[in-house]
Amino acid sequence: MNEEAFKKVQAAVEAAKGTTIKQLFAADPERAAKYTLTAAGWTLDYSKNRVDKNVMKALLKLAEASNLKAEIEKMFTGRKINETENRAVLHTALRNCDPKAKVKVDGKDVMPQVRRVLKQMGAFADSVRSGAHKGYTGKRIKYVVNIGIGGSDLGPVMATIALAPFSKRYIRSYFVSNVDATHLAEVLREVKAEQTLFIVASKTFTTQETMTNAQSAREWLLSKIKGKANDVVAKHFVALSTNEAEVVKFGIDPKNMFAFWDWVGGRYSLPSAIGLSLMISIGPRNFQRLLKGYWKMDRHFRTASLARNMPVVMALLGILYSNVYGAESYCVLPYDQYLSRLPAYLQQLDMESNGKSVAKDGTRVTYSTGPIEWGEPGTNGQHSFYQLIHQGTHLIPCDFIGFCKTHNPIGDHHDKLMANLFAQTEALAFGLDHDQAVEWCRKEGVDEKLAPYRTFEGNRPTNTLLADSLTPETLGSLIALYEHKVFTQGVIWNIYSFDQWGVQLGKVLAKNVLADLTAKKKPVLKHDSSTNALIARYRKAKGLA
Ligand code: F6P
Repeated sequence: MNEEAFKKVQAAVEAAKGTTIKQLFAADPERAAKYTLTAAGWTLDYSKNRVDKNVMKALLKLAEASNLKAEIEKMFTGRKINETENRAVLHTALRNCDPKAKVKVDGKDVMPQVRRVLKQMGAFADSVRSGAHKGYTGKRIKYVVNIGIGGSDLGPVMATIALAPFSKRYIRSYFVSNVDATHLAEVLREVKAEQTLFIVASKTFTTQETMTNAQSAREWLLSKIKGKANDVVAKHFVALSTNEAEVVKFGIDPKNMFAFWDWVGGRYSLPSAIGLSLMISIGPRNFQRLLKGYWKMDRHFRTASLARNMPVVMALLGILYSNVYGAESYCVLPYDQYLSRLPAYLQQLDMESNGKSVAKDGTRVTYSTGPIEWGEPGTNGQHSFYQLIHQGTHLIPCDFIGFCKTHNPIGDHHDKLMANLFAQTEALAFGLDHDQAVEWCRKEGVDEKLAPYRTFEGNRPTNTLLADSLTPETLGSLIALYEHKVFTQGVIWNIYSFDQWGVQLGKVLAKNVLADLTAKKKPVLKHDSSTNALIARYRKAKGLA
């Protein structure tokens, strides 16, 4: 991180001398309007943050000093910014809706292949949705089971739930990710083999969980439908991958494969072939609308000035709380049941991208990087963990996300839902001081000594993101907003956001442990004493030596 520019941020915060959000509002009746941005169908009200003009100025200078604009261009133009894997980072090409756009990697335009796969996906999705694509016994497909994990699961699940109002309800979508057989078994109880399409989604096609689930699903299918294995599999299995050789080895015809490329990171892959299950659910047109939404936010991010740039401003606020105020976590609170899986999706996006402690030059960073991200849909969280956000000792900045219109206008549910959202941001920012708490006690006829417990410090920062309604477009632009926020923070923290070496060690060790768990003869255990004892206990419980 640029030390000089960061020191100026600290100095600007110090100069504000702890001015609270309440005081900031009192001093400026225009504050809400001044600290509101709009982009790609979204309004961001960031006025309820601990920032004044000078803090914002210093934060923007930090972005400038990190060469953010130049780094953005490098990403959009296919430079190999994922240096530890020697790859370009071009998820933005997947949703580039300009029919004339050219985006080059190693001198080759990638757009023709992007468009080709989208067309292939569209034709296949239509044939499943219309019933033209039939199962081996001639029945139409009713159940679509996506088998994948991480980025090959979270995006499709999150978006399929989010866009349910746009879905063909006849088709039921399922997602199997966990290697725990319970996940697969419970889904297989719900579906009928003759009408099921399995989508094996894996960038590498070597991921243990996915390949184990896919093999078991294949065996189950072949135990239910009698016929030549390859012919049955051809009607009921497709693959989404970058690895054709492994797809073929698994027994899936390359004709039934939908490709993507090494420049698409797993957690950024929803707009690639990985979105096939979603496309089958909502149809190619709605999928295209999703891409348009992404694209709108992409263009905003690439062209807006830093001060009016929504992902940049959100990233800078995050940096303020992580690096100046020492906040360790950050909460995403969608006030829409359809966004129930958004926090889980954003957890991978943010924590797998910026959960790094080594700077680009290979040295250890001296400041904190990616925050712990968590959340739940409102209002459920209000009756669970909000207590800590309001009155606990931790500072937890929150993003509140809501829509002016609902897909389910029943009674006054939506007004109540949104009243809660707005009220929470008000309570967090302004709190309730001692005198007000005393007043509250008096009104309720309880002892005034209880006032301290009923006092709310306030000054808890929140962003409010508001859109007209949840549509494929607004979902696409919301995802892109967070992607670019994470990118911006990675640039400022000077870390590589597009690799994920941290997940590798566990994978390697699990292979060794598996060999010890399943060895027929008593193995010589060479782990630490704790791991050895756990393995021995497990083997004993299973009746092994
Ligand atoms: O857990 C690491 C990871 O590589 C994620 O980044 C990725 O999304 C997931 O595994 C699944 O990988 P694949 O799509 O290759 O099966």
